[in-house]
Amino acid sequence: MKVLVTVATKHGSTREIAEMIADELRASGLEVDVREAGSVIEITSYEAVVLGSAVYTGGWLADATRFAHAHGPALRKMPVWLFSSGPIGVDDAKLLDDPPETPELFKLTQAREHRLFGGKLDKESLDRFDQYVARVVQAPEGDFRDWDAVRAWARRIASSLAGVQTQTR
Ligand SMILES: Cc1cc2nc3c(=O)[nH]c(=O)nc-3n(C[C@H](O)[C@H](O)[C@H](O)COP(=O)(O)O)c2cc1C
Repeated sequence: MKVLVTVATKHGSTREIAEMIADELRASGLEVDVREAGSVIEITSYEAVVLGSAVYTGGWLADATRFAHAHGPALRKMPVWLFSSGPIGVDDAKLLDDPPETPELFKLTQAREHRLFGGKLDKESLDRFDQYVARVVQAPEGDFRDWDAVRAWARRIASSLAGVQTQTR
């Protein structure tokens, strides 16, 4: 079974989450491609999709939402999982909510689940505008990605897909 793990990222930390998910899926015997959402043209060769985005100023990046819109009909016919990567630090309750477009994404993709993971903030790597926003919201710097949680989630996806493979045999 061929799986697409596709993400929108600005600074690469969400791509690293995608790579970790892909590694776990491959360890379960699945064939996996990791692609940036903005570069995917067609998804007909895949039987399942994991779609993720970094969260910036309260929402998904445009490439990821565009992907969900553009491929909605195909996505609704296959198992889909969504994830967001964003919250940095745990003291800002506002950042711990699912992004506001999550209900629409579920509608577009009929995804099985949405999972929110912690993100990573390295102020040095930001452009001036993002540095300004990070300063205004007093975003804490650091790597808040929980790799055990990412790996565990990927393993759950792999076991769901093992069930799908058995049913289609
Ligand atoms: C300007 C800016 C705005 C952000 N806004 C949010 C936000 O609204 N919600 C959130 O959970 N995380 C927010 N973050 C944290 C990012 O989502 C986090 O740093 C993420 O890991 C970045 O992913 P990337 O490296 O793939 O671009 C923001 C970060 C920056 C720099």
